[in-house]
Amino acid sequence: MEAAALLHDVDKLAAVRPAVADLAHGSGSAEWLALRGHPELGEAIVGHPVSRLADGSWFDGWFARASIEALIVSYADKRAGQKLESMAERFASWERRYPPAERAARARGTWSPETLAAVRRRAESIEARVCDLLRVAPTDVRRLEWTSRAFRFAREGLT
Ligand SMILES: [Fe+2]
Repeated sequence: MEAAALLHDVDKLAAVRPAVADLAHGSGSAEWLALRGHPELGEAIVGHPVSRLADGSWFDGWFARASIEALIVSYADKRAGQKLESMAERFASWERRYPPAERAARARGTWSPETLAAVRRRAESIEARVCDLLRVAPTDVRRLEWTSRAFRFAREGLT
């Protein structure tokens, strides 16, 4: 699960994007990893993009069959920006960074206020299921201890 979480956005890298350019975000990451011998990571990755939550029928099918790993990767995506945030903070950040016109272009459709409300409800369903399965409250969620050291290493290298 940690490997899937760490690599879920790999298809955003300039070095990877051309190889999977015909695939939707997330599916591109899964395909790229499968081609490198890690097909087992795909199921936990393909459902993470928030844009997926705009499609109610897709979401219903995914939510009914998603593994706990897929649910956690999707949930983590909705809590982790540069730092751990509540889903409300994360959605506010997305809305600031991707104004409606850009969001519509990315989602290849229009996110009406009703769609945005449905996306938030579906994200809340993911949060509720994950927290129920793990018997934690959303406010109890924390980053794993090793992540602080890993972020410092990524920023500064070995010190
Ligand atoms: Fe992503």
